[in-house]
Amino acid sequence: MNHCVPETKIKKSLKGYIFVCTRNTEAECFERLLFGSSKAYGSPVLKIRKGDVLFLHNLDTNTVSGVFRAASKGNLNIEPDAWSGKYPYQVKFDTLENKICLNSAKRILRKLEWSRNVILSGSKLSYLLDMFAYEAASLNDLLLRRRVGSVGESKDIKSEEGSPPIEATTLWDFSKQSYGINPKGDNKYAGVTPALVIYNLLWKYTEPGDLVVDPMCGSGTTIDVCKEENRKVIGYDISPTRDDIIQNDARKIPLEDESVDMVFIDPPYGDNLKYNEHPDNIGKISSDSIQYYDDLEKVMIESHRILKKGKILAWLIGDQWLNNQFTSVGFRTYERLRKHFEPVDIICVSRRGQSSHTENWINRSRRLGFYLRGFKYLIIERKSLRKQELAEE
Ligand SMILES: C[S@@+](CC[C@H](N)C(=O)[O-])C[C@H]1O[C@@H](n2cnc3c(N)ncnc32)[C@H](O)[C@@H]1O
Repeated sequence: MNHCVPETKIKKSLKGYIFVCTRNTEAECFERLLFGSSKAYGSPVLKIRKGDVLFLHNLDTNTVSGVFRAASKGNLNIEPDAWSGKYPYQVKFDTLENKICLNSAKRILRKLEWSRNVILSGSKLSYLLDMFAYEAASLNDLLLRRRVGSVGESKDIKSEEGSPPIEATTLWDFSKQSYGINPKGDNKYAGVTPALVIYNLLWKYTEPGDLVVDPMCGSGTTIDVCKEENRKVIGYDISPTRDDIIQNDARKIPLEDESVDMVFIDPPYGDNLKYNEHPDNIGKISSDSIQYYDDLEKVMIESHRILKKGKILAWLIGDQWLNNQFTSVGFRTYERLRKHFEPVDIICVSRRGQSSHTENWINRSRRLGFYLRGFKYLIIERKSLRKQELAEE
């Protein structure tokens, strides 16, 4: 066999995904012909289509085996009792030719710059398939039948896609408003939410098929993220920017009691941004005034009513510095939320791409001795499982 890399170019549409196992979990994969992942890596698994190429990386033995083919699409709980329910994002597979096991997997995967949420395609998938092709002339023949050119010609092929990693700490700093191939929301919309905020909330607090509601969804970021991550979604706004947003005042939400699995809200933080001229736009009310908090408390009460017990409300909010005066919008919002919900967590979300983060404003802040707002609070609250809610306490 020729021992230089055969440089197989594969069909543009072919995708590859590497599952991970340990000594303890590998046998069950082959008994059931099933690969599984935890929820933290659920998003890329749901993107696997029947016929995609699969591999299995054993962390303990430092091997990667393959080549497998997805015999189903990726789904939740194909076999709910597998691995005692620990890895519910699953796909059925069969083996292409004979199973081959490569050693020094970590070195190979480092070369591919692989990480758990990556889906391989193009030249990176070719490279990995070629590693297997060395090991089996028969598999090589099979690959040769698919061969249409060399890697050198395939610069237009995107080498990897997949899903962003799930955040591990309470400090979230996203360099871009959106992620993935399709835009989420409109990054030109004043006050647009970073899509990865919503993505992380979905993968932490909801399951595929759950219903998510955004009562103030602006340019529709929540709708786009939910659709891509297989959640049902309803988005409202006082002044809709797209056809799939329903016109509604968030102080009265037209949904049944206890019918929703998560509510996400990124409201106006006062009257600092001009969203629209609608008379009921809460973004016309100053966050210095009690009325701002009273009105938003109505939204909290409605969110509480529509949420199922034990489910999550996530509220993104930033403080205000205006006319040399600080307003603690975040803490004041938190106090109102605490009247109705149980605390779960608070995340600090870095404010990148703010219109005030310009050379001019940075100079002004240094000269005049104030700080530009560098972060927002993502307040995560739960509707109590108890019958009597905290508001009465
Ligand atoms: C910060 S923006 C939301 C941004 C959105 N998450 C996005 O990514 O595009 C706040 C939104 O609240 C909406 N809004 C203000 N008052 C409202 C009300 N009473 N009911 C519903 N929406 C309202 C505004 O129109 C604006 O689109």
